[in-house]
Amino acid sequence: MSIVITGANGRLGSLIIQELLHHVSPDQIVACVRRMESGKSWEDQGITVRFCNYDEPASLEKAFVGASRLLFISSPHPDDTVRMRQHAHVIEAAKKANVGHIFYTSFAFPEHSDISLTHLHLATEHAIRTTGIPYTFLRNGLYMDFIEALDVNASILTGNLRIHPGSWKFNAVTRSDLGAAIAAALSGEGHLNKTYELVAPDVWTFSDVASTLSELTGRAISLCPTNELQHWIFSFLRKIDTASTSGDLENLLGRPLTTMKENMKAYVGAVIRSD
Ligand SMILES: NC(=O)c1ccc[n+]([C@@H]2O[C@H](COP(=O)([O-])OP(=O)(O)OC[C@H]3O[C@@H](n4cnc5c(N)ncnc54)[C@H](OP(=O)(O)O)[C@@H]3O)[C@@H](O)[C@H]2O)c1
Repeated sequence: MSIVITGANGRLGSLIIQELLHHVSPDQIVACVRRMESGKSWEDQGITVRFCNYDEPASLEKAFVGASRLLFISSPHPDDTVRMRQHAHVIEAAKKANVGHIFYTSFAFPEHSDISLTHLHLATEHAIRTTGIPYTFLRNGLYMDFIEALDVNASILTGNLRIHPGSWKFNAVTRSDLGAAIAAALSGEGHLNKTYELVAPDVWTFSDVASTLSELTGRAISLCPTNELQHWIFSFLRKIDTASTSGDLENLLGRPLTTMKENMKAYVGAVIRSD
């Protein structure tokens, strides 16, 4: 089995490779990067490193040669129209290279939103289906680190967690859990033509965040809804489905997910130490 991974040096890609090494030997992994020097540590571990750039179709076909499984990590380009073109390059190259199975990191519950991001992911899923290559759609939930946008640091110091008013619910997950689950799917069996919603099985709220912060810091922290707060994240959060749940991620992981509280611990510790 040869597992080829794009975006290998990115935050999610790196976690997936670390986890994958628990399931397969290094010589079964091919890490694709835009800057060859960023793959040095993988090479030192016996992983093959290949050049690939979503903007250079010829590089992709070469990078995917011999892939029984391809993990296509979606492009981080900020313009979804450009991303669509880059994704089309990857899919066409996968077809030309006779890839055996495409795993694609999509976005959770894309049918529940009407924004360019979710259209991009749905369009990419459809484009992958046009190839006839077996697929697995790994629809990643919102990364839990979006919480950093709330300025948790300031809330610990002032005692006020400022948010936009609303009845918020979050199915967000950690990159580490996604990395472990994706590695399990990539190296496992039984995932042919499946679509997984990789979100939490239960939701948490901003009130939960405030009480968790109070508990972890020993300081009273109250929720402070205000329309004065200007941050792009809130308008984005209103347009995506952060409330639907699924057991898919937990099933792939074979263990409970990292909780919001566990995720906050390291972050809160760092803030308090620098206080
Ligand atoms: N679910 C969520 O909440 C969420 C949030 C943000 C992003 N995402 C999506 O999830 C993906 C993975 O997340 P991440 O945290 O690992 O992102 P990341 O750390 O920014 O990694 C992105 C990877 O894509 C590579 N890349 C960028 N442009 C490329 C190109 N033209 N050709 C080939 N490779 C290219 C980067 O390589 P370089 O190091 O060379 O740039 C890097 O390896 C993102 O790309 C984005 O589509 C999801």
